[in-house]
Amino acid sequence: MTHEIYQQGSLDLLTELAYLPNANELLMPLKGHHKPTYNHSLYTSLLAIEFGGYNNIDDDGLRVLGLAGLLHDIGKKNSDTKMLSISNLSVEDMQHIREHVSHGVEMLRDFKPEEVRWIVALHHSFQKKPYTISGEKDVNYIVGIIPSKLNKERILFLGQVFAIADMCDRIISPDYNNNQSPTSIDGLRERITSGFIGNQEYVNNIIDSIGRIIVEKKITEEVYIQKAIDTRKEIIEMLST
Ligand SMILES: [Fe+2]
Ligand SMILES: [Fe+2]
Repeated sequence: MTHEIYQQGSLDLLTELAYLPNANELLMPLKGHHKPTYNHSLYTSLLAIEFGGYNNIDDDGLRVLGLAGLLHDIGKKNSDTKMLSISNLSVEDMQHIREHVSHGVEMLRDFKPEEVRWIVALHHSFQKKPYTISGEKDVNYIVGIIPSKLNKERILFLGQVFAIADMCDRIISPDYNNNQSPTSIDGLRERITSGFIGNQEYVNNIIDSIGRIIVEKKITEEVYIQKAIDTRKEIIEMLST
């Protein structure tokens, strides 16, 4: 396992969470329905755990982020696979895909920890063209329906770090970006910043941490990105057998 750029603890946590019965039974139907979305979920989970660490999120929060990574797109189990595989969709088809958020939130109604469900509800709320559930665009709509026993501020914090991880898989993975992965960390920062409308401080914490890892490991930025792509492949192989 090429784990030099990620913490061994993050990889161990991803593996533990992927086999938790309550998560696994929701994730497996997605694997059968659309493997690329399953692959995306695995790597988003690893990135969410890592990026959570870069933002000093505690262990409970990292578990929530990892589970959200695995489960955030399970609503796509109800999406037409043809539509999931093409990028230039019509307005109606786009609406069909957007419904994966509502479907996912519904599928997670009894899931514990409950925070996971609300991060899933928010996972497209911090991108340039945001949407949540039932076509609502406003984050405040979701905040308004989060049960008051939960810490809404913390969910908003975790939700934003999560949204960056979700975007990052699409930026880094050659499967999604037509082999247009960034070649520098500034390139990565620009791509995140241009698509993310949440708190930029969380992006800066991630980019600064990546910069420190590159210095510590004595590798180039290009090597870092290549290792990220290689690790993605490795975890998909490891968790797909
Ligand atoms: Fe999604
Ligand atoms: Fe996603």
